Amino acid sequence: MSNTANAKLQIEKVKESRVSSIDFSDLAFGKTFTDHMFYCDYKNGAWQEPKIVPYQPMTIDPSARVFHYGQAVFEGMKAYKDDNGKVFLFRPDQNFKRINKSAARLAIPEFPENYFFEGLKTLVNMDKAWIQPGVGNSLYLRPFVIAIDSAIAAAPSESYRFMIICAPAKAYYKGTVRVLIAEKFSRSASGGVGFAKAAGNYAAQFYPTKLAQDRGYQQVIWTDADTHTYLEEAGTMNVFFRINDTLITAPISDRILDGVTRKSLIQLAADNDIPCEVRPIKVSEIVEASKDGSLKEIFGAGTAAVISPISAFEFQEQVYELPEVNEHSYSSRLKSKMLNIQHNLAEDKNGWRMEI
Ligand code: COI
Repeated sequence: MSNTANAKLQIEKVKESRVSSIDFSDLAFGKTFTDHMFYCDYKNGAWQEPKIVPYQPMTIDPSARVFHYGQAVFEGMKAYKDDNGKVFLFRPDQNFKRINKSAARLAIPEFPENYFFEGLKTLVNMDKAWIQPGVGNSLYLRPFVIAIDSAIAAAPSESYRFMIICAPAKAYYKGTVRVLIAEKFSRSASGGVGFAKAAGNYAAQFYPTKLAQDRGYQQVIWTDADTHTYLEEAGTMNVFFRINDTLITAPISDRILDGVTRKSLIQLAADNDIPCEVRPIKVSEIVEASKDGSLKEIFGAGTAAVISPISAFEFQEQVYELPEVNEHSYSSRLKSKMLNIQHNLAEDKNGWRMEI
């Protein structure tokens, strides 16, 4: 599916870096951005010259279709620095494939593979002083594409902007997460865009998630829209359930995001003799397992969220508390395995790290 294009990457550097003014010990997720950003416009049927320029606001016509119809897709990735100052991406090929898969569903043209990787690597290298070494630190990378045609007809845009911005990041959730299981609202429908990282998938969750937050839950675990019987994913992460010694996660479908962390954990479970089943899982199964004590863990998995243990869930106005996490929990074991690979502290037998 990949294609290539031929324009040379244009670079304009900042006169002076802002990095020394940043307090890395106190970073809210996604609010501080590095010195530079990457962008590339699509017009007249082709991706134009890719550019890296100082991070700055941009001017877009109020009629741009992204504002009216939400024609926008994005990715979430991270760069990590080891103690020797080497910088790594984690499975960036997966993000490249997924952004183009999401784009295709939103009628956005495919982005060229060489522009994506050259832009990403050059940008991360230019801003690598913003990456703190050590497990728990990373540079969150946000590639995205927006429709920028000045025209409010409800039709695909003829011009787009692809961008990458970077934000130094620590944990997305501080501490454990309490979740509400969806019984009324839905995240995605069969045949819809649930599998895509479409901006609108996230906007659609904000209101029900806010209602959940008002009741003390950080996230919603979404269930199938037709029957609210099967557990699908949480708003910012895929979800794993441990019943006795077996991990279970829902199969991906046209309603569920094909998470890079999710698929890496399924592989890491296999590599570490942790039984893992990828199969539909009913809400009633975890309710029963919680009642009989066989439900040992629930955790979310995503690039931003990493692995976030869930401490309780509510379903039909009943709250079910989960056992406390310890170093033997699958979430702790898998999290440290994955972070050690990402930070170049462990062998990478699956070839997931890309040094830049
Ligand atoms: C990610 O995990 O990278 C995501 O895109 C989730 C986002 C809502 C922070």
